[in-house]
Amino acid sequence: MADTYTRVMRAPVVGGLAKRVGAPSPPTLERFVPGAPVISGKVLLGAATNSRLARPLLVALEGLDAATAVVDGDPARRLIGDAKVDAANFAAKGARQRFKALVFDATGIGDSASLVALQAFFYPALDALERSGRVIVLGTPPENAKSAREHTAQRALEGFTRSLGKEVGRRGATVQLVYVAPGAEGAMDSTLRFLLSPRSAYVSAQVIRLTPPSSTTAAESVDWDAPLAGRTALVTGAARGIGAAIAEVLARDGASVTGLDVPAAQTDLTALMARLGGSALELDITSDDAPGEIAAHFADGLDVLVHNAGVTRDRTLAKMPADRWTSLMEINLSSEERINDALLAAGKLKPNGRIVCVSSIAGIAGNGGQTNYGTSKAGVIGMVHSMAPALAAEHQATINAVAPGFIETQMTAAIPFAIREAGRRMNSLLQGGLPVDVAETIAWFASPASAGLNGNVVRVCGQSLLGA
Ligand SMILES: NC(=O)c1ccc[n+]([C@@H]2O[C@H](COP(=O)([O-])OP(=O)(O)OC[C@H]3O[C@@H](n4cnc5c(N)ncnc54)[C@H](O)[C@@H]3O)[C@@H](O)[C@H]2O)c1
Repeated sequence: MADTYTRVMRAPVVGGLAKRVGAPSPPTLERFVPGAPVISGKVLLGAATNSRLARPLLVALEGLDAATAVVDGDPARRLIGDAKVDAANFAAKGARQRFKALVFDATGIGDSASLVALQAFFYPALDALERSGRVIVLGTPPENAKSAREHTAQRALEGFTRSLGKEVGRRGATVQLVYVAPGAEGAMDSTLRFLLSPRSAYVSAQVIRLTPPSSTTAAESVDWDAPLAGRTALVTGAARGIGAAIAEVLARDGASVTGLDVPAAQTDLTALMARLGGSALELDITSDDAPGEIAAHFADGLDVLVHNAGVTRDRTLAKMPADRWTSLMEINLSSEERINDALLAAGKLKPNGRIVCVSSIAGIAGNGGQTNYGTSKAGVIGMVHSMAPALAAEHQATINAVAPGFIETQMTAAIPFAIREAGRRMNSLLQGGLPVDVAETIAWFASPASAGLNGNVVRVCGQSLLGA
């Protein structure tokens, strides 16, 4: 579903001319196709001296059948002991290795001088990165560092990944930083699978934190083709747009999905749910009885709650009447708080349950004409951060959020042309995302194997230059 500009840039004659005069050419992003392997090429693994994740990383990579190579002389070679991996050698004459992913364990970097290990690993390897390639840097959360110097160096990794994302985005490649807290080494599988695969096509330059999970689902017990089999999910605002894509992807991953939307959207909602074998709940989430009706609908409890329903009511603040503010805040934030409270109070969120919220980059960067919307979406982030500790401690559950950037939906189609076109291009991947990109990110958070992810906010924005 390429937009007009992208179609022109890809056209044989006109596109060639436009590229010659320097117009940016959006890369074709690979997206997930059911049945395809997690990663369609080789992984190059590297590490800084004294890093602690190389071994668990190799085990995880073996678990997803990724062919892994290590450069001769790289510290990773010693850290993985006698494990058998391919040898890579960029200095060899005529060496033509190609890699789909570059994975670097930076946990051993204990001071600023040692950051040069990043240059040493990536300098020869970047030329060998395939299109739509993946770069993952793993670090120790700065707050877990044992010294000020280590804290400084680990924090510096953010600037590296965000800058590299801007360099490789034109090739459709993405770069992420995953901070793995001590004790979370065994919780990397679902995150590596998501970040290495085309499911994360429109996610780049994100900082993801893995913490020791409050409940554990052994990687061996997960059916990675249907990780949500046997689990129930509720998606609000499911009749169209991003919500419909979320319902589709969760159902594809095996969940029994209930789609909720306002009665006016009944026709679309019923048709979608009939196709997905799910059930439809026609309800306005702002109504007084909505929390109770949702709780009653899930007599046996709920595994995954996705707060997707949301609206915009744009006006500059000087022209914003109170009802435009309050009606939006009710839908985008207050009703979510009430539904969470009601479900938790009734014990309806099952152990290893998931709440996934949909924020927006407008809640991170702010947006003129959207003080109401930006406030509500920043509030969603506050809700995630405030609820995460108690959810883990008291319910063995997690709460996370996605913050979409420019996604091609009816909501963004309504934006005036010039603003729409600017929003669409102002990111490292030079294009808007698709609803499925948001849905895949939500499915990753929703997985029973993602218990190590709690309190994260991950942007699905192609590394938008807004608030990046
Ligand atoms: N499209 C984007 O680029 C973008 C970017 C950032 C964030 N988002 C967020 O993603 C979510 C989905 O956006 P979309 O683009 O698919 O929007 P959309 O307008 O296409 O769909 C929203 C759905 O929510 C439903 N809804 C609205 N009010 C409701 C209520 N009171 N009760 C129940 N259902 C209600 C609508 O009927 C609709 O089906 C929203 O939270 C939005 O803020 C979208």
